[in-house]
Amino acid sequence: EKGGFDSFMLKEIFEQPESVHNCLRGRLIAEKGHLQLGGINKYIDRLLYAKRIIILGCGTSWHAGLVAEYIFEELARIPVEVEYASEFRYRNPIIYPDDAVIAISQSGETADTLAAIELAKSKGATIFGVCNVVGSSIARATHEGAYTHAGPEIGVASTKAFTAQVTVLLMMALMIAKKRQNVAEAQFSELLYELESIPEKIAKTLKINEEIEKIAHIYQHSSNMIYLGRGYNFPVALEGALKLKEISYIHAEGYPAAEMKHGPIALIDEEMPVVFIAIKDNSYEKVVSNIQEVKARKGRVIAIVNEGDNLISSMADHVIEIPATYDVLTPLLTVIPLQLLAYHIAVLRGCNVDQPRNLAKSVTVE
Ligand code: F6R
Repeated sequence: EKGGFDSFMLKEIFEQPESVHNCLRGRLIAEKGHLQLGGINKYIDRLLYAKRIIILGCGTSWHAGLVAEYIFEELARIPVEVEYASEFRYRNPIIYPDDAVIAISQSGETADTLAAIELAKSKGATIFGVCNVVGSSIARATHEGAYTHAGPEIGVASTKAFTAQVTVLLMMALMIAKKRQNVAEAQFSELLYELESIPEKIAKTLKINEEIEKIAHIYQHSSNMIYLGRGYNFPVALEGALKLKEISYIHAEGYPAAEMKHGPIALIDEEMPVVFIAIKDNSYEKVVSNIQEVKARKGRVIAIVNEGDNLISSMADHVIEIPATYDVLTPLLTVIPLQLLAYHIAVLRGCNVDQPRNLAKSVTVE
């Protein structure tokens, strides 16, 4: 049932070309300029003309929501707030009837997310679900939604659910952008083609697995690690750190790279591995200077870069090369090496990656 893999987690990481493909299937056909989410239909105007979008989730789903904040603001030009469901539900939050709420949950059973949805619903907001488990409590509690179709996720650490969530959220943002005429026809079409090619690029990205295993050998005994990224890849840094914490029990922190100088930089010495997402997007140059700051303090740098990046290769201790794509789509690729890095480090430390201590797959208690 693990399909020849040592664990469900590794199987699920390697399934991502297929799971993202399944998520896109029938919804996006670039050649025809077709983009449609069948589950979002009756209430679509509430999303299109929302004054504000509130995104709710926990853990990895919350990280997918943070990525979506950047994507929606860029493409759909609607203000977005991303909330931990557990905080939102106890805060007497301000919710207007013309707010659209997007609730993200792999299991569809997370108690805090469900309670937050009920609260927003009681104030008249329209709720859209992004769930993986069909017929789950959250899927049933929402007005409408789009399933991620990633297939069952057994490993406790969420991997393929994250990439499928980001894919659905991208399709939602693109749909709104098109209908609100925020993107030019040509740009819209290019984005569709590029999104369609993402499963292939994920497959290419997965080829770095053995290289990552080598890097994992070097850092398996670390007691701390820092993950840094900017823009679309700041939430990916958070997600990389969460993956490492939960399955290897190494303390890890994710930060927006520019925040480092406001505190965490004090942690950096020759014992501190720092993972940078340093691809050639619109924050590339800024990230390069953040890498220099870490190297100047003797930190060990592992950088996720685009193929053929000689500048960062000359500065970092290790580089992991991934294919290039449009900025807005990069989280679908950059998260892959971080999942693999956490996986290999955890395995080398003898941890049970599928069932990490103290964690459950669905958190049905608050
Ligand atoms: C992380 C992880 C958790 C879940 C969180 C939300 O790998 O598995 O952080 O992401 O408990 O779960 P769902 O998405 O099922 O609501």
